Amino acid sequence: MSAPGRSAQDGPVRPALAPLLPAADIADATEAFHRAAPSARRWDVESSIAWEVADAGRLTDGQASAVQFITLIEDHLPGYIGVYERAFPLNEDVDLDTFLHNRELYHFTIRWGFEEDTHARALFRYQVASGLADPVSLRRELAMEGRKPFELPHDHAVSLLAYALVQEKATQIYYQQLRAVVGDPVLADVLGYLARDEARHFAFLADVVERYLRVYGDAVVEPIREVVANFRMPLADTIRGYWRWALRIADTARYDHTDAYGHLIRIVNHAVDARTDRVDELVRFVDACRSTTAGAAS
Ligand SMILES: [Fe+2]
Ligand SMILES: [Fe+2]
Repeated sequence: MSAPGRSAQDGPVRPALAPLLPAADIADATEAFHRAAPSARRWDVESSIAWEVADAGRLTDGQASAVQFITLIEDHLPGYIGVYERAFPLNEDVDLDTFLHNRELYHFTIRWGFEEDTHARALFRYQVASGLADPVSLRRELAMEGRKPFELPHDHAVSLLAYALVQEKATQIYYQQLRAVVGDPVLADVLGYLARDEARHFAFLADVVERYLRVYGDAVVEPIREVVANFRMPLADTIRGYWRWALRIADTARYDHTDAYGHLIRIVNHAVDARTDRVDELVRFVDACRSTTAGAAS
């Protein structure tokens, strides 16, 4: 049963509802994800960025605000990881087949978590190195938001993964747009690395959601539709003044999750050879949910 209106106060996410992909499918997708990031293409906070020339003085107020905003979003990683731990447990709460699935997914989640934590560290480092923030106050500010609970209003495994798919693509697009306008080349470098990682995260989730559609067809249409129908950006309900903030940074670069919907439609079309009424309806629905200005970035 789905509970689209559930909020963080209603309690933790339980083990995700079936259907679950066969473990072998998750394993294939996970291997492809790891192959897409060979060691020669990796980057790190310590050696890949010229922090000594970072200069927040080259940013407009809107750009500085955007950096503060995305630092908060990336820094909330422990909350996001918590959702996966509860939804895909690796203990005796689940039967053996579910454990097999969850164990394969973990090969993705642990690497993804490391990369997202690197994003949080890079943005923190940028703020400090560029003179935008002092480390003690920034740490405290992040902690005030970071300790707030985080939940997603989805119960089905495929819904959680489809949510992440939209989120990763929307974030990638946003970082690319922001990168194109920021006045500090050091920040542009950081955003370039981040966007590249988000693109790989999206590619994994696209692979997985496509497999769900191939294997289960109509049975996963509703859990995917539910994600689009109820989509909220992460932390939209917890960050103080989120919407005011979102509006303030909109002039700098637009953060719009519906930018990702064209990509979702492409995945559905790619996955399904014989279209059914339910799939057609899903595609029409996703399309109708796109912002009128969306599409240019795809
Ligand atoms: Fe990220
Ligand atoms: Fe990501």
